[in-house]
Amino acid sequence: MGHVVAVANQKGGVGKTTTAINLASSFSAAEVNTLLVDCDPQSNATSGLGLSKDPARINTYDLLMGSANPVDAVHKTQLEQLWLIPSHKNLIGANIELVEAEQREFRLRVALEPLRERFQFIVLDCPPALDLLTLNALVAADSVLIPMQAEYFALEGISELLHTVGLIRNSFNPRLEIEGVVLTMFDERTNLAQQVTAELRRFFGEKLCQTSIPRNIRLAEAPSHGKPALLYDPHSKGAESYIRLAKEIISHHFAQPVAEAVATATEVVEPAETTSEVTAVAEEQPIAVDPVVEEDQAFATPVETANHDTATNVEEMTPVPEMDRTA
Ligand SMILES: Nc1ncnc2c1ncn2[C@@H]1O[C@H](COP(=O)(O)OP(=O)(O)OP(=O)(O)O)[C@@H](O)[C@H]1O
Ligand SMILES: [Mg+2]
Repeated sequence: MGHVVAVANQKGGVGKTTTAINLASSFSAAEVNTLLVDCDPQSNATSGLGLSKDPARINTYDLLMGSANPVDAVHKTQLEQLWLIPSHKNLIGANIELVEAEQREFRLRVALEPLRERFQFIVLDCPPALDLLTLNALVAADSVLIPMQAEYFALEGISELLHTVGLIRNSFNPRLEIEGVVLTMFDERTNLAQQVTAELRRFFGEKLCQTSIPRNIRLAEAPSHGKPALLYDPHSKGAESYIRLAKEIISHHFAQPVAEAVATATEVVEPAETTSEVTAVAEEQPIAVDPVVEEDQAFATPVETANHDTATNVEEMTPVPEMDRTA
């Protein structure tokens, strides 16, 4: 049964999509079958993986509306073990169209149900709002990964998100955990970053990921080439840090360390292709998933599910304390 992780923060521009693309790619490089679902009408995860804008392509909107078979929405990417359910700007209409719909919070969860057996990880890239799209993602998810920038007001916006997670646990999805908080665009050389990190460590404890993601130009450039960083520049600090984050998250869920698999897989990454080739690959027929093949394509070495006993009690983490502004 695959693990569904939503990458969410209602604040804009904090690195959600960069994290979703590069984390999902790093999972797949570790030979973990991974599905990335673009839940944002901006469709940045879709274009960031080289898929052109195509309203005719079955996308997340069709899944939420229940008008397509989820298997037909799954598209290949240039990474062998990464698939994508793309988005389109028409997804913005779902927020309005679903208001009166039955089971409106459960649409994505229901759509992903038949796919959970086929992927070890399903990563959901959320829009920058606590809207019905993010709500659907959080109801479909087993855990939420929160990208944050180490800023002076870092904690201020997070209380609303944690409150929403608490409400969703109480009403729709009791299994929803906090996967972690990951610092993005991090510059460890500044005193401010050190101070904010110490404050976040006190607040989030072990939920603050050990791995932080540095500000790295390769991460910003890669989407314009339609590639994850590990194809665009596999030895960049950005690509390497997302591989470390993937290892950290995999270790939450699987007993067997996959460090070697990650190292090996990233060494054999194919040279970068052109965007048009990527698009051509991506626009091939959606995968016809054969359950037997999928079984064989599981982890290179068998792994057992670990006790993910670091589940966070959201209530324990609220209320958000004031940060020390005198520091
Ligand atoms: N570690 C990083 N180093 C350098 N640039 C980064 C990094 N992470 C993200 N960026 C850049 O910052 C901008 C915002 O990142 P991204 O799109 O991932 O944020 P987001 O939270 O998904 O935004 P939105 O809320 O609009 O969906 C993008 O231009 C991206 O390329
Ligand atoms: Mg985004």
